[in-house]
Amino acid sequence: MSQEKKKLLIIEDDLGLQKQLRWNFDAYEVLVAGDRESALAHVRRHEPAVVTMDLGLPPDPDGASEGFAILQQILSLAPDTKIIVLSGNQDRENAVKAIGLGAYDFHQKPCDPEMLGLVVERAYYLQALQQDNRRMLQVQAASPMSGVISRDPGMLKVCRNIEKVAPSSASVMLLGNSGTGKEVLARALHQLSPRQDKRFMAINCAAIPENLLESELFGYEKGAFTGAVKQNLGKIELANEGTFFLDEVGDLPMALQAKLLRFLQERVVERIGGHKEIPVDVRIVCATHQNLKELAAAGRFREDLYYRLSEIVINIPPLADRNGDAALLAHHFKNKFNAKEGRPGLNFSQEALALIESHPWPGNVREMENVIKRAVIMADGPQITADDLGLSTATPDEQPINLRQIRDDAEHKAVVKALARVDGNIAKAAELLGISRPTLYDLMNRHAIK
Ligand SMILES: Nc1ncnc2c1ncn2[C@@H]1O[C@H](COP(=O)(O)OP(=O)(O)OP(=O)(O)O)[C@@H](O)[C@H]1O
Ligand SMILES: [Mg+2]
Repeated sequence: MSQEKKKLLIIEDDLGLQKQLRWNFDAYEVLVAGDRESALAHVRRHEPAVVTMDLGLPPDPDGASEGFAILQQILSLAPDTKIIVLSGNQDRENAVKAIGLGAYDFHQKPCDPEMLGLVVERAYYLQALQQDNRRMLQVQAASPMSGVISRDPGMLKVCRNIEKVAPSSASVMLLGNSGTGKEVLARALHQLSPRQDKRFMAINCAAIPENLLESELFGYEKGAFTGAVKQNLGKIELANEGTFFLDEVGDLPMALQAKLLRFLQERVVERIGGHKEIPVDVRIVCATHQNLKELAAAGRFREDLYYRLSEIVINIPPLADRNGDAALLAHHFKNKFNAKEGRPGLNFSQEALALIESHPWPGNVREMENVIKRAVIMADGPQITADDLGLSTATPDEQPINLRQIRDDAEHKAVVKALARVDGNIAKAAELLGISRPTLYDLMNRHAIK
């Protein structure tokens, strides 16, 4: 950030109020305009990020027509400007109408300086976020990490690691929950690798029925089985000299795990019904949302295959753990779908943005993408409201903080657990809990445990 003060334009015809606001905002470079002409001149010349405005301006100081006209002109000159309408007590209706025309917020006169200060600050924050987002989109259009949007240190580290391992031929395992961007990163890895001009072939082990998966992977010769009317190359072979992406590798059936392992050791494939070993050179990238070590311990995933696949392991953090990314991605998807749906200038309301920041996003970036797409389509006005997001606003169960309640809960759980462990034997349960039998009876009574 430069040391220059941020510019704030105040549109107000009352000289007394002009002075008061100027004084309120001495931390900013304040520009003042009393009418349309000077307001628009300031906007053209200084492009202030935030504007506060009175609606009643000459030649219609008692109505709002002039205010509305100026508001619309500013937004058509500089659509990202955040305009805060200062309205009198009686003009709530006009203030709401101003929001409908694209104003960012309204604030009632007489102004509470502290509140207004916060609203203005938040408007700058939002505006900066949007500008950042735009800049990032421009940079990213040219970079191989295209499509990976983040400002979170953890996620940026993931990107750096992808860049680091891309030039090597090591097999890479991407671990992350659904929607965290595993496929996006796998493609970026390929684009950054020396194999970028060759094919990127992907197969989703969870989406293909077991009996088809083998021929998808290894291909088959004509006549290998009923229906094999002509020769068909497998995905591994098709990826020769390129990158082969095994998505949801945790779902690979045991029999195919053995076959894949053999391929990784020998680097040759044999088509089904064929007798030739065909050498194939591919870089392997795989992904899963499952815990493969646990699967291996449970005997559902071959440990030797796990080690072959995981020369480099990259953990992708869930969206909820990425600091600030929710709002950033929301703006990114909003811009994308605004353009697609022909709704330029559509923006988030403050409530919508607050909800986006607090939502846990269990479906990660994919969920975010769907939610914003829907919201852009559903939004009626120039703003996307919290309602348009269609997220449940129910707060997750509040954890009790009352000590008695916590103790009660713990007591109840311990008694139930002890009784279950000894199959209802009172004497043994009392012993486990370290209390006398009468005390246990008391507790069972109190918690209505039979
Ligand atoms: N950091 C990001 N920036 C921008 N878009 C992203 C980012 N991460 C993911 N996406 C987008 O989110 C969607 C889901 O990403 P992707 O398919 O890579 O996730 P995944 O982990 O493979 O999900 P799944 O487990 O559902 O297959 C895609 O449309 C992708 O373009
Ligand atoms: Mg995927």
